[in-house]
Amino acid sequence: MTTCVASSVDVALLGCGNVGTALARLAAQPSGPHLPVTITSALVRDPSRPRPLSPAARVTADARALFATQPAIVIELLGGTEPARPLLLEALGRRIPVVTANKSLLARHGSELRAAAAASSTPLLYEAAVVAGVPFLGTFARRPQAAAASGLVAIVNGTSNFVLTQAVAGASVTAAVTEAQRLGYAEPDPRNDLAGIDAAEKLAVLIQHFAHRAVHPDAIETRGIEAVSPAQLAHARELGGVIKPVVTADWSEGLTAFAAPAFVPAAHPLARVDGVENAVLLDTRHGRLLFQGPGAGPAVTAATVLDDVREIAAGSVAAGAGGLPAAEAAAPETEWLITIDAPRLPRPVDVADLLAAHGLFTRASSSRRTADGQDCQSFLTWRAIAPRVELALASLRLASGCTTAALRALEVPA
Ligand code: HSE
Repeated sequence: MTTCVASSVDVALLGCGNVGTALARLAAQPSGPHLPVTITSALVRDPSRPRPLSPAARVTADARALFATQPAIVIELLGGTEPARPLLLEALGRRIPVVTANKSLLARHGSELRAAAAASSTPLLYEAAVVAGVPFLGTFARRPQAAAASGLVAIVNGTSNFVLTQAVAGASVTAAVTEAQRLGYAEPDPRNDLAGIDAAEKLAVLIQHFAHRAVHPDAIETRGIEAVSPAQLAHARELGGVIKPVVTADWSEGLTAFAAPAFVPAAHPLARVDGVENAVLLDTRHGRLLFQGPGAGPAVTAATVLDDVREIAAGSVAAGAGGLPAAEAAAPETEWLITIDAPRLPRPVDVADLLAAHGLFTRASSSRRTADGQDCQSFLTWRAIAPRVELALASLRLASGCTTAALRALEVPA
């Protein structure tokens, strides 16, 4: 009897944009002790466009032709849910392992894909979907004891973090977004970054991974950085912190979560995560763990995808446990940064009294006059639920004719 040993890992590539191109270049480099990874087929919208693929690769717009090449692994870099979802379900149904960087797909259909992977005992890896440059998801998937977590707080959108960091330094938001696009960090539609959608999707994937529950990203309280004003950034600094695009989830009892810009006190580990950096602070049974590094960019995403491919090829990845129970994520009780402005505001002490009459208690304040001559005040409050804050602010608007804005505020971890 003869045994046939493969001389390369033949992969089908779904999508060959920035990340796919970086992956093709990386895979073409010497593979050291690993089997070379060969892209034998690629699904693209326009097969006539030149790409850095071997002339032997089948480049096609026809998904069926892809499976005819009998790939050992399917790599999905299409983004979005269609046609990625049916193609990955088909691959898993054919027992072809899947590597994907598609957070939107995982966030919305992760449970279905996990069920399909488990049903055919086929690996499904997605390390590059969240904080692509920090390989922590796979590590934890194989270490259930250390990964027994009860909550997390994180910065998972590099573009928003970059824009806010630049804005604190005085740069315009438009210029910062353009730069994030040039560097390959921003989504094809950067509104997904700026409106918090990308962050909510990544949070949904993190909740699946660590809390083993499926929460639809559209059901998570989500706000973008678009509404953060220069006055809020300045007040945050005066109140001893900074505004960051954060996501949090806690499943120690029930499940609470949000994805929104928030006041982060200077002593919090996330306060120093600047520019396009990402970080995840995980509350585990054995203490708090911090993972920090690059979250996005074609080169780092391609490197992580290739590592997933090599891990599967080495035969060290087990199929997952299956689908996940659906869950709702409630909005948590948090501290708040309240900002109000008007041509003439009441004294801060009177504002604080009015807020207190509605059960919203302040603990610090900052006042300034904006460039357009408005009085502007910010208050840090103690913990309150969102409806209480809304009621207090509505009453304040009625009493003083001011405009109001509220951001959640993190507390320094104990
Ligand atoms: N647009 C994303 C970000 C890319 O800025 O973090 C990585 O998912």
